[in-house]
Amino acid sequence: MKRLLQLNRLHGAQNYSPLPVVLKRGRGVHLYDVHDKQYYDFLSSYSSVNQGHCHPRLVKAMQEQCEKLTLCSRAFHSENLCNFFEYMNKTFGYDKCLPMNTGVEASETSVKLARLWGYKAKKIPQNKAEIVVARQNFWGRSIAACSSSSDPSCYTNFGPYVPGFHFVDFNNLEELESLFQKHPHIAAFMVEPIQGEAGIKIPELGYLQRAKSLCEKYNVLLICDEVQTGIGRTGQMLASEGVGADMVVLGKALSGGMMPISCVLANNHVMDLIDPGTHGSTFGGNPLATAIAPEAVEIIRVENLLKNARIQGERFRKELTPFVDSGALKDVRGVGLLNAIEFEKPRDAEKLVETCMEKGLLTKVTRDGTIRMCPPLTISDFEMEQSLDIIKEGIEEVSE
Ligand SMILES: Cc1ncc(COP(=O)(O)O)c(C=O)c1O
Repeated sequence: MKRLLQLNRLHGAQNYSPLPVVLKRGRGVHLYDVHDKQYYDFLSSYSSVNQGHCHPRLVKAMQEQCEKLTLCSRAFHSENLCNFFEYMNKTFGYDKCLPMNTGVEASETSVKLARLWGYKAKKIPQNKAEIVVARQNFWGRSIAACSSSSDPSCYTNFGPYVPGFHFVDFNNLEELESLFQKHPHIAAFMVEPIQGEAGIKIPELGYLQRAKSLCEKYNVLLICDEVQTGIGRTGQMLASEGVGADMVVLGKALSGGMMPISCVLANNHVMDLIDPGTHGSTFGGNPLATAIAPEAVEIIRVENLLKNARIQGERFRKELTPFVDSGALKDVRGVGLLNAIEFEKPRDAEKLVETCMEKGLLTKVTRDGTIRMCPPLTISDFEMEQSLDIIKEGIEEVSE
């Protein structure tokens, strides 16, 4: 293990600071290191492995498809992509789907679509379209994503920045409305239903619905970035279900952790504005990823993982709330299996992560003493019980 860590340090760009554990396989809710030590995975690759590691149905789909066709580019039609389009639109209720690979690409695509709509439909003068984002958002690492980030570690030293972004506080509709009033060239408001990287920040009930009403009032599109919240994580297939967002961005768990795939879902009034040759990606919508994605979504449905996410998530919060009452934790919060625990002192959060690793549970600090607790949605009663035992023991040790 030491040798592998050294290889990483010597030869890899140091743009991450992983825990000192080297993994070699995963199955269901478990990961295994190079010494075959078993861990519960309470990060799920930032909510990409909602279906559990190496789900047999996804392994089969991947194996079968990679013997047939993996890539043919968008210069031609592919059978799987055509079927994927139909599947996505029937499942999520939008007219059209635009596939990409990573979350940041799909989010950036939604920004491009919003600007396009701004010029072609809202008649904003050329190069004047603006997008509103929430402070503490996270949508990736591209230059546009850095430009619309309020986090110095995301944007510092990466300027000059892409213009045309406005910031509002998450969960603040007055500020949103006053921006809409002041700036007639706003094309879209882009927001996560729950801010994941910010430390699982949950808005007031009805926030998204009211944001949507404001968007309608001021002729602005609502983009819900569901890259982290989507595909069952919150106990609903989409956290923005029923809101009627103009665009929904999906990624991460759409892949089942197998083959990167992301997409933007939108209705015709937006998506029909795009012309051939104005946007795309060599790998976007490839036959391999589009064979896997519908299977990844079906697993959530047929294995009742929405219900399981709700049940296990509630149990998680209920069993850890006494630590808030006792003062050991500052907060326990979440929706479905998108949960976090927060310590008063950031160092205690780091200590708990280290202790959990030793005891066989992996997760990570997001920020400000907050630890994300997001196991695969397949976690059983027994597995949750064992995991909670580890976490509780860890909290007790940390607060001793
Ligand atoms: C809400 C949200 N949007 C977009 C992204 C970017 O996804 P990716 O890392 O696949 O580019 C993330 C990644 O964590 C995310 O949480």
